[in-house]
Amino acid sequence: MKVLVVGNGGREHALMWKLLQSEKVTKVFCVPGNGGTATMPNCQNLAMSVDDFDGIARFALVQGVAFVVVGPELPLALGITDALQAQDIPVFGPTKAGAQIESSKAWAKALMQEAGIPTAQAATFDRSQRDEAKAYAAEVGAPIVVKADGLAAGKGVVVAQTIEEAQTAIDAIAQGQFGEAGQTIVVEEFLKGQEVSVLALTDGQTIVPLLPAQDHKPIGEGDTGLNTGGMGAYAPTPVLSAEQMQRVQREILEPTLATLRQRGIDYRGVLYAGLMVTPEGEPKVLEFNCRFGDPETQAVLPLLETPLEMLMLACIEGRLAQMPPIEWKSGAAVCVVMASGGYPGTYEKGKLISGINEAEEAEAVVFHAGTQLKQQQIVTSGGRVLGVTAVGETFEDAIAKSYAAVERITFEECYYRRDIGYRIR
Ligand code: AMP
Ligand code: GLY
Repeated sequence: MKVLVVGNGGREHALMWKLLQSEKVTKVFCVPGNGGTATMPNCQNLAMSVDDFDGIARFALVQGVAFVVVGPELPLALGITDALQAQDIPVFGPTKAGAQIESSKAWAKALMQEAGIPTAQAATFDRSQRDEAKAYAAEVGAPIVVKADGLAAGKGVVVAQTIEEAQTAIDAIAQGQFGEAGQTIVVEEFLKGQEVSVLALTDGQTIVPLLPAQDHKPIGEGDTGLNTGGMGAYAPTPVLSAEQMQRVQREILEPTLATLRQRGIDYRGVLYAGLMVTPEGEPKVLEFNCRFGDPETQAVLPLLETPLEMLMLACIEGRLAQMPPIEWKSGAAVCVVMASGGYPGTYEKGKLISGINEAEEAEAVVFHAGTQLKQQQIVTSGGRVLGVTAVGETFEDAIAKSYAAVERITFEECYYRRDIGYRIR
């Protein structure tokens, strides 16, 4: 079968790499893809934009693709699933209504409150109510978190250490610094603890978590500095015990799905719960995403034994309950992200990358993100450039293998964190 994947990040490269490991998948197309998907066997990039729903639908129909997988949140929030389903094209990913769980923090918060899902206490304000928002922040006290509603590419969240900082953030959002994402302001209680990402597959009725992973969002070692899309991840994280995973299933995943259903939403695809595990051991939701995580996917999929296309088709066709339990390799996987110097601020592009083959000979898999194939050479084209994943019997083993591979890769002004997995070392 042929599959079409929408997106151009490391997550999409990992999804295609995993899909192609199944003997049933003969070809994958990527819209628009990157340097890695351009050079992977049986993979073809298509020069279309992720919001060209008509173009994607036409191509999928002409080629007879078995299904479309949507990687990023933006096309989901714009309704790609609705558009493709209208032409009877099977899609892995929720509809526009379902994607609100990520595209609107206020909507997601209201859903969690209605369903009684453990999460930070919060209040939502219209941008005209900035005085009320400030008063609420002062009442709760610092540290406190201020969020701009809507998709802000991870930049709409301020963890304010003082009330003054929270007030400045509220003003900035109300003054439209986050554009559309500032119509509504969410002010919420600061939660202490460790963050964990649980990506769960669902067909709208049944929901099955993948192995829990831990991302490393800040740019600097020891989780310091500005937040990024994610500088590395490992799985399975021991931060959530088997018993706590059952709690996540019972208290978070199942009631969320049930509440979506009550709202008339038939949610199929990935429900990603970004959790804070409090010092008391209680998992609470920080946010939901309507898609696979990046770079969590690059750490989780290399451990997956069950063919990915089987799981995705079961979600699309509503057969998840009949599937045998998901099978996993033993051991651990670690993904180290290599970025362009200057990211998440400004950075240069077009740097020649060398050593990828040598890194793969060192028992790692190199997932491309911000890369491009130019005159038969791979050059940088984005902030996060590569995700280098290694699997090992133990975390120490996986960490050592992954960094050994990273050291074989060079490009000018390359930056990476040297402490991925530090919380469990
Ligand atoms: P979000 O996009 O809502 O996940 O927020 C981005 C990041 O801000 C999270 O990954 C956390 O590191 C932090 N964050 C968000 N909400 C809270 C909260 N209530 N308490 C502590 N940290 C938070
Ligand atoms: N790694 C964070 C995210 O995918 O949102």
